[in-house]
Amino acid sequence: MSGVALARYAKTMAGLERKSRIRSVTVASGIDFASNDYLGFANSARLKAAIRAAVDRGVPVGAGASRLLRGNHIEHEMLEAEAARLFGVEKSLYFASGYAANAAIFSTLPLRDDLVVYDELIHASAMEGISASKAITRAVPHNDACAVEQAIREWRDKGGKGVPWIGVESLYSMDGDRAPLRELAELARRHDGFLVVDEAHATGVFGQEGRGLAANLGAGSHVLTVHTCGKALGASGALLGGPKILVDYLINRARNFIYSTAPSPLMAAAVREALRFLADEPERLTRLEKLVAFASAQLQSRLAKTPSGSQIIPVLIGDNGRAVSIARQMQAEGFDIRAIRPPTVPEGTARLRISITLNVEEQQISAMFERLFTILKENGQ
Ligand SMILES: Cc1ncc(COP(=O)(O)O)c(C=O)c1O
Repeated sequence: MSGVALARYAKTMAGLERKSRIRSVTVASGIDFASNDYLGFANSARLKAAIRAAVDRGVPVGAGASRLLRGNHIEHEMLEAEAARLFGVEKSLYFASGYAANAAIFSTLPLRDDLVVYDELIHASAMEGISASKAITRAVPHNDACAVEQAIREWRDKGGKGVPWIGVESLYSMDGDRAPLRELAELARRHDGFLVVDEAHATGVFGQEGRGLAANLGAGSHVLTVHTCGKALGASGALLGGPKILVDYLINRARNFIYSTAPSPLMAAAVREALRFLADEPERLTRLEKLVAFASAQLQSRLAKTPSGSQIIPVLIGDNGRAVSIARQMQAEGFDIRAIRPPTVPEGTARLRISITLNVEEQQISAMFERLFTILKENGQ
């Protein structure tokens, strides 16, 4: 390989370094204020036992092929049947990841004459699909249902003939705030379109038995949901839910479903157990709610900041370098807090993303905020 060919990448990496945007992977250590394992399922004895039991009854490690070939396993089908019942959707489809599910929906379902209106803060995985879509696409300001309606009206006025799609997260991953789902579902219904709700950070945490924020929206066939399984459910994959015809269409047309090895059947068994875990131990949700309320009160009293109202607590820093430096200082003190920088968040809004999970206790939360207060002060924040 010539030095010139590699130098192009080195130049970009040097640029990222200069802007304090360089990324690298490290093995996690310290107290967990960074994961999405909100209910502490990932390392639970119950999910581990479910995997052991599945191995004992002969469930294979690998699916061995795409779902459409020999990779479809009864474990996938049992999971999808249970998920459809639990989330109240006509049909459910298990994807290997939330990223794949979102990319599949937005790249496949909106057709050439359609319009996709999406929240400006929507996750990169949805953007992946939106960029590949043949439909007209429009970003709208965050959580602005009026802007969504206006975009639909303008498109219709200009002769738009297809179907409008609205793409949002129910609980935003980097801000912890909620979408106005009722208004958006009503818009989807009124304009005979579809609302796609990414429930990644609400699944397991909000709604009855953790069914998410889109449960009971009452918009039936106008709503599609994505429940990722790698966050509160402690496993991996994603359960897409919606009208049967759309799910069947995805099975026939979504390239990342068709041309990809099916998720591990063992993982499907683990997710099935996680859904039962939710139903059997609703007190976990109550415990998490209490911890979130405790953390929010600490944020207000120690840092004088307004809480997001959820388990995702952003502390805005602004400057990339300073956000990284503060996160590193917290990590050195044993608190695993990560800095989130552009392009994950908008330019100038680098932040610490503190997540509250059942992997921590009240006393660790107050110790963390006490230390953070001092470090922020030392950094002129
Ligand atoms: C809002 C949102 N949607 C989708 C995803 C992707 O899910 P997964 O990690 O299962 O690919 C994530 C997480 O990274 C997310 O935060």
